[in-house]
Amino acid sequence: MKVSELEDLHGQIATCPACDLCKSRTHAVPGEGAANAEVMLVGEGPGFHEDQQARPFVGPAGHFLDELLSSVGLRRSEVYITNVVKCRPPQNRDPLPAEIEACRRHLERQIDLIKPRLIVTLGRYSLAWFFPKDSISKVHGHLRQRDGRYFVHMYHPAAALHAGNLRSVIMEDFLKVPVALAQAREASQTAAAATAAVEPAAEQMRLF
Ligand code: URA
Repeated sequence: MKVSELEDLHGQIATCPACDLCKSRTHAVPGEGAANAEVMLVGEGPGFHEDQQARPFVGPAGHFLDELLSSVGLRRSEVYITNVVKCRPPQNRDPLPAEIEACRRHLERQIDLIKPRLIVTLGRYSLAWFFPKDSISKVHGHLRQRDGRYFVHMYHPAAALHAGNLRSVIMEDFLKVPVALAQAREASQTAAAATAAVEPAAEQMRLF
């Protein structure tokens, strides 16, 4: 992927007029991180601090997310962080279904461009974006695979700020991230080795 394609997309999101959230936002928050990130983290939507700074997860929930990342040896600069909706819902209310739909194409395009091996869903809106029938209380901490991509589901980091007992649950669930990443890397190496083994055979067949 060309970095400029992701930059173009960020530019489009910054001026997106697709729903009413554009009227109340200070800034849209497209997302940030490595254009070739193996891990993409998807939250719900920007809050006050994110709306002010045009950066995802920079408020209190973001500080906890930074701790979680460093607990598994990941740096913000090597992952990509974004949200289901790119503009702050007024008073931090939940995003409306119409807002999520209006914003859907932006996250779809981010996934298409970055092609992360692993997507970490943060909170129920993010989980529902990918797996609408699932319940966060049942699937948090689970690792699963769909269409060659790995997923780990987490409670939203902000939940730990409101319900202190969730902090240790979230920290433990986050340990699935390096496990999933190792599995995803191994699966892609196995697939690459299988392709490399088939190609010489195909080449030989062409010789006869
Ligand atoms: N909560 C989110 O879901 N996203 C942010 O960017 C910040 C807080």
